Amino acid sequence: MRLVSPFFTYIIFVLIFVHVSHSLPFIVLHGIGDECSSRGTTKFTKSLSNWSGSEGYCIEVGNGFWDSWFTPIGDQAQIVCDKVKKMEKLRQGYNIVGRSQGNLIARGVIQFCEGGPPVKNYISLGGPHAGIASIPLCGSGIFCELANILIQSDAYSDPVQEHLAPSGYLKIPSNMKGYLDKCSFLPKVNNEKPGERNSTYKKRFSSLDNLILIMSEQDNVLVPKETSWFGYYPDGAYTPLLPAQKTKLYTEDWIGLKTLDDAGRVKFVKVTGGHLGISDEDMKKHMVPYLVSQKWKI
Ligand SMILES: *[C@@H]1O[C@H](CO)[C@@H](O)[C@H](O)[C@H]1NC(C)=O
Ligand SMILES: *[C@@H]1O[C@H](CO)[C@@H](O)[C@H](O)[C@H]1NC(C)=O
Repeated sequence: MRLVSPFFTYIIFVLIFVHVSHSLPFIVLHGIGDECSSRGTTKFTKSLSNWSGSEGYCIEVGNGFWDSWFTPIGDQAQIVCDKVKKMEKLRQGYNIVGRSQGNLIARGVIQFCEGGPPVKNYISLGGPHAGIASIPLCGSGIFCELANILIQSDAYSDPVQEHLAPSGYLKIPSNMKGYLDKCSFLPKVNNEKPGERNSTYKKRFSSLDNLILIMSEQDNVLVPKETSWFGYYPDGAYTPLLPAQKTKLYTEDWIGLKTLDDAGRVKFVKVTGGHLGISDEDMKKHMVPYLVSQKWKI
């Protein structure tokens, strides 16, 4: 017994230590017109990983650039759902960091992914959560021209919904009927359709440990930029801009945002910068604390 017990004490100590120092991995979901291998996304993922000491993986959808534009958001979310289910390292749970459109994929994964591993903390940088009133600025180029032609024809027609990712979260206040009837993704993920609200989506979203919503003050890509905080225009008009807390999604708690907020689990963060612009200091202050190992959770 005497010889055995120090040995077992040692083993138990090692087991506990290993468990305590075990940190949850995170995944990064990039925005439109981007890809995991781009310099910006690679640096972003690597920096968060370095500073938090947690493993980070950028999850790609198809070939990245092209699919981010032309694969519907719901399909992109299903692809990511299938991938995370296959990743052994995420089994015990994981955190998500979303960039721009990647946040809608994140929402789809959190709310729709059947049998997926649990998402603990979700950090959203510049996420169009309540929709956008015009398609993201994308400069020039064939993709943008094509996208603009499609959008101008009819955003809520089937061909556009089936072939242009941003149409899945384009919410034109003056066409709420078109939006609710035909927009393929956002009305569902935000539980906006009367009579079709799904309590499972709400339950899953409100089971997050922490929800960090980061808005960039000089964001001129998202219209309105307050969509990063779930703020939006009222139905049928462009004024006044409603803060999240004044929207029905919040007051009637369609997806559990109010539940989370009441429990002190939502952080509304404002940073200086343009769309997706965030300083190293702000990343360390607002993102890294939610990615470091969860101490003493044995
Ligand atoms: C991450 O850390 C490694 C090793 O210390 C270093 O070589 C690399 O430059 C760091 N990368 C970033 C993006 O901070
Ligand atoms: C709600 O969503 C869950 C999960 O996707 C699904 O199993 C269920 O059938 C849905 N309920 C309704 C009423 O649509």
